[in-house]
Amino acid sequence: MVRFLCVALWAVAAPAMAQDVARGEALFSNCTACHRIVAPDGTVLRGGGLAGPNLYGAAGGRAGAQPGFNYSRWLTRLGEQGVTWTPDDFAAYIENPTQYTKNVLGDPAARARMAFRQSTGAADIWAYLDALGR
Ligand code: HEC
Repeated sequence: MVRFLCVALWAVAAPAMAQDVARGEALFSNCTACHRIVAPDGTVLRGGGLAGPNLYGAAGGRAGAQPGFNYSRWLTRLGEQGVTWTPDDFAAYIENPTQYTKNVLGDPAARARMAFRQSTGAADIWAYLDALGR
């Protein structure tokens, strides 16, 4: 029964998701100047620069939690306050990282060190990151 349900859900969800993931994969080329995606076992799922943290598991993961990355104190504080990336938070963050950080921390002095804005396709990029694993 469970197996049947899974297959049925997959059949319904697959066409839309496949498209989103493909678009997200293409859009992620906007991010690779600073981000790469590396699985915990070291497999490089997507090559990219080191200026930003590894985004493996960012979809649904705790903010500021990638081991070994030197986050700004503001992003570290987001994580300490328990912020976990949801699709909405992720979209708001990449649309305007500093504004998002100010809003959530309630601190007008807050800044994000990510000097890039992406105002479209956040849901597709999320789907791509999510598909690569958490
Ligand atoms: C110019 C470099 C640059 C580009 C391009 C860039 N980022 Fe970033 N990103 C950063 C840096 C640096 C940080 C860490 C910010 C901090 O510590 O305040 C970051 C942080 C993040 C985080 C938080 C990660 C965590 O561990 O909590 C997410 C999510 C993110 N970026 C997504 C994206 C996505 C998606 C794109 C492409 C649409 C992108 N970034 C493009 C530099 C960049």
